[in-house]
Amino acid sequence: MTTLTPSKSPLFMSLQMGDLNLSNRMVMAPLTRNRAGEGNVPTDLNTLYYTQRVSAGLLITEATQISETALGYPATPGIHSDAQVKGWKKITDAVHKEGGLIFMQLWHVGRISHPSMLPDNMLPVAPSAIQPQGDAVTYDGMQPFVTPRALGVQEIPDIIADYVSAANNARLAGFDGIEVHSANGYLLDEFLRDGSNTRDDIYGGSVENRMRLLDEVLNAVKEVWPSKRVGVRLSPENQFNDIQDSQPQSTFNAVVDMLSKHDLAYLHVLEGDMLNGGREVDYVELKRRFGGLYMANMGYTQATAEEALTEGNADMIAFGQLFIANPDLPARFIRGASLNEPDQATFYGGDEKGYTDYPALEAEKKLA
Ligand code: PHB
Repeated sequence: MTTLTPSKSPLFMSLQMGDLNLSNRMVMAPLTRNRAGEGNVPTDLNTLYYTQRVSAGLLITEATQISETALGYPATPGIHSDAQVKGWKKITDAVHKEGGLIFMQLWHVGRISHPSMLPDNMLPVAPSAIQPQGDAVTYDGMQPFVTPRALGVQEIPDIIADYVSAANNARLAGFDGIEVHSANGYLLDEFLRDGSNTRDDIYGGSVENRMRLLDEVLNAVKEVWPSKRVGVRLSPENQFNDIQDSQPQSTFNAVVDMLSKHDLAYLHVLEGDMLNGGREVDYVELKRRFGGLYMANMGYTQATAEEALTEGNADMIAFGQLFIANPDLPARFIRGASLNEPDQATFYGGDEKGYTDYPALEAEKKLA
């Protein structure tokens, strides 16, 4: 498949998202990089990393913990302490100085954690006490997931309050908006899908009940942010983190119908299954039901992204690995330049190697 000339390519057309104008339709996907500093505070190295990628029409931060009990991996940043807010403020200031836009992805990992990482060695929390298959990434290496503790119905307001407090901190830190992470087997997704939610109260059973927590979280964060500054991420058929739903199409049709009533900035969908490569859900149907701006993600290339935009199957495309390895990805697409190869070994954790040392085209020219 061939790419379009820059003047014909929908990737480089601006996009109005509420009162924000995105200079192009290339979004940097949320990417866990495990390089936060002491206290899970963003560092100057993290500032450099995001600033290098500022030519994306929109940057979305790596998933960021809403509370200390929302954490599931070493060295992932939070947005619940003053020091974290200050660290993120440096990042948003630097991005804005360069003319960029940046949303923060708000994260609660639910059962994808381990007591050794949590306050007082508490059990991870989840909709139901169902142990996921697989291992947690802990400070002491990989350890099998434990059976989580099912949240009591009386604890739900505290979880929602943590989302509101984090959303408010994201405002204080100067973000342009927030993305509620409701994908990939983490807490909100655990509520949505019937493989992880077997509750028999108002948060389980029917899809209306399973999506109640996401609906309530959105109502609550909309007290802090205008609705057009709030996005949501879903992954209807992704089985990463041992999660499944018996009827992904009908479940997520209903979820998207609910989301369409929230007048959001966008719906961000990981289309397919990261693990097995399947793609059975009708994403065009989800986009149609949502009605607002639809951001697609899942291994898109320049050519497939242009095709999706041209056919009206997406309004923006989020690129993950391509933005890891190519800080100036839009310029490379425009010029038809070669792309740097991402180095998997340095995706998670470490220092500047594989993080801020991928060269931009200008730097490559100087070296040549
Ligand atoms: C990961 O750390 O591998 C990770 C984190 C958040 C996601 C997906 C993957 O949404």
